[in-house]
Amino acid sequence: MIVTTAELFKLAYGRFAVGAYNINNMEQALGLFQGCIKSKAPMIIQISKGARKYANPIMIEAIIRGAAEIYPEAVFAVHIDHGDEATCYSAIDSGFYSSVMIDASHAPFDENVAITRRVVERAHARGISVEAELGQLGGVEENIAVDEANAFLTDADDARRFVELTGCDSLAVAIGTSHGAYKFRGKQGLHFDRLAQIQARLSGFPLVMHGSSSVPQEEVQRINAAGGKLDPSARGVDEAEFARAVPLGVTKINIDTDGRLVWCRVHREHFRDHPEDFDLRPPGKVFVAAYADFIAHKNEKLGSAGHLDAVRAALSEA
Ligand code: G3H
Ligand code: 13P
Ligand code: ZN
Repeated sequence: MIVTTAELFKLAYGRFAVGAYNINNMEQALGLFQGCIKSKAPMIIQISKGARKYANPIMIEAIIRGAAEIYPEAVFAVHIDHGDEATCYSAIDSGFYSSVMIDASHAPFDENVAITRRVVERAHARGISVEAELGQLGGVEENIAVDEANAFLTDADDARRFVELTGCDSLAVAIGTSHGAYKFRGKQGLHFDRLAQIQARLSGFPLVMHGSSSVPQEEVQRINAAGGKLDPSARGVDEAEFARAVPLGVTKINIDTDGRLVWCRVHREHFRDHPEDFDLRPPGKVFVAAYADFIAHKNEKLGSAGHLDAVRAALSEA
């Protein structure tokens, strides 16, 4: 059952975060659906511009429709991740997506507001939710002065003004995370103080945490033991911190890199251990099962596990 992110967030706010997982192919879709059903969790399927370019938007839609038919008990939103204006309009007009992210965070405040407003108007006219972004994610050097580093974080007063001016349904905030496998150095970590300030000015409003992969050391070590060359200093968000973010208004947590690490580990180990093999299906099968386990584990940490039946019941009545 496809629902909007706004509907999911109403049920999740303050109780749990919904996992937002990026997919690019059939194997990820199968693993994602299986993992969410196993852990009884609603989910957000995220499609990036890169994924649409890689697999073709028609193929992505067909894969998701197919998975939804195979697993009719699943409850999920289909969401554009880091969309530009054109990608958002294409998704809105397709009639398939239930949610889009317009990412104009690189633009000055007023321009970000103007772009986001245009997307909100067009999306809301079709009942589609909009996530926007304010602040700059990651890339902050460790030795940068604190005041300078904090300038990249989302300002709490600006966040309230931005939401009022745009009418967006959720807001991605910069609180110290970044995309990819190398998020933190030294004592860097999440800025819960800033998150609390934002929530104080946007009480009840759904906040989104991007760049939330945890980059497990074990995965990095296994990848390197199987011939990979990842920098062993790779570090991500401590999974235990998800539970601290939820009462502070975080209702959507984005995870992509960790799934890529699972894919990389499974395939490297498979071909290391079976050098005579050249069939794509044996490692593909192992990956789907491993990805499903990974998703189920993440949903436990996000607190979304176990809520599927109640969420379906609430949204079927609505
Ligand atoms: O935030 C970016 C996501 O991890 C998607 O990555 O643009 O390489 O598909 P991508
Ligand atoms: P990670 O790179 O930490 O998985 O973040 C993914 C993300 O934010 C997608 O929008
Ligand atoms: Zn992101």
